[in-house]
Amino acid sequence: MKRLHIVVVYNAYVENVPELPEDRGGTADLRTQIRHVARTLRKIGHTVTVLPLSHDLFQFQRKLRRLNPDVVFNLYDDVVQGAGYEMRLAALVRMLGFPLTGSPALALGLTRSKGMSASLLAGAGVPVPPHTAILETVGEVDRHKWAFPIFVQPSQEHAGVGVDRTSVTHSKTALKLKVREILRNYNQPALAQRFLPGREFNVGIIGGNRLRVLPLAEVDYSALPADIPPIMSYAAKWIDTSPEYQNTRVSCPAEVDPELGKRISQVALHAFRAVGGRGYGRVDIRLDEFEQPYVLEVNCNPCLDEGMALARSAEKADISYPKLLQFIIRAALEPLPHDPEISMLPMRRTAASSASQHPNSNSNP
Ligand SMILES: Nc1ncnc2c1ncn2[C@@H]1O[C@H](COP(=O)(O)OP(=O)(O)O)[C@@H](O)[C@H]1O
Ligand SMILES: [Mg+2]
Repeated sequence: MKRLHIVVVYNAYVENVPELPEDRGGTADLRTQIRHVARTLRKIGHTVTVLPLSHDLFQFQRKLRRLNPDVVFNLYDDVVQGAGYEMRLAALVRMLGFPLTGSPALALGLTRSKGMSASLLAGAGVPVPPHTAILETVGEVDRHKWAFPIFVQPSQEHAGVGVDRTSVTHSKTALKLKVREILRNYNQPALAQRFLPGREFNVGIIGGNRLRVLPLAEVDYSALPADIPPIMSYAAKWIDTSPEYQNTRVSCPAEVDPELGKRISQVALHAFRAVGGRGYGRVDIRLDEFEQPYVLEVNCNPCLDEGMALARSAEKADISYPKLLQFIIRAALEPLPHDPEISMLPMRRTAASSASQHPNSNSNP
């Protein structure tokens, strides 16, 4: 691949809350990851500029124009509650005419709210957990018939935020308590759905116009003490001193019979395509008691840390970390078969188009 000028964008906005040093989702870890991606890209011969973005999209535009990169590597990850910055940034970069890694604005926006994306996926024929409901008040709990256990979480967060030991509820009282807590602490509706008791898989997907499923990863909860529910909570994901973190393993490639593996991969691909995902993604899937796969979540632009999640699955397919980053850049540079954000590409001024844009050349009012 030829030498490119790559601008790596990340979220420099820090919330005014103290961070725990053992929290692997904190700012210090984020900075380390960004530096690592930049270093890897430089090692494979590219020129890299790291561009932090907090709120000032005007200044960001000016800087990006001045830098005039061949491609923008999008490592921007929202931390603002219910935020839509991710999609705005993606839209803006495309409007300015630069190729962008990962998913387009539309996919980022559609998958930002879990309730919204579950309903869209269901509409597209993708299986989502049964009895999915959005609860905007505690009183709404009484309007549904529940088959416990019910899983409940904030409807617009990600990365395990708001998911803990009490997220699996066994009674209406417990469900109401949890809904109240979510409404109060996260200032957003709660998403409740049937708790699926089966195996859990993370399906990595990479590619541009042709998508490819990476070896499946399975979350192994078998070492967890009996009083901790088998879920990927915030603690299991990020707090390395917690029993959740220490007793949850991910095995990749997952040991799964080929027929089931194929079904899981197809459901994941269907979901990623349905939301318009591109470049790289991770679909979280869980089985019910009859081994039927359901989509918990489509993660567009998921975590790209070396040795973790998507990167680990890629390694199992003999795609080293530098190769994975190259793959993602190449996908960003592929011409789109059609651009879902038509108006986001600057108009190319040709003789024909400027003639047709002349006010007198158009007889239609
Ligand atoms: N309906 C469900 N049944 C069983 N477990 C679930 C369900 N929904 C979510 N989970 C568990 O909660 C975790 C986090 O949920 P997910 O929707 O993937 O949100 P996040 O954005 O926090 O990863 C999942 O990895 C899974 O372990
Ligand atoms: Mg998830």
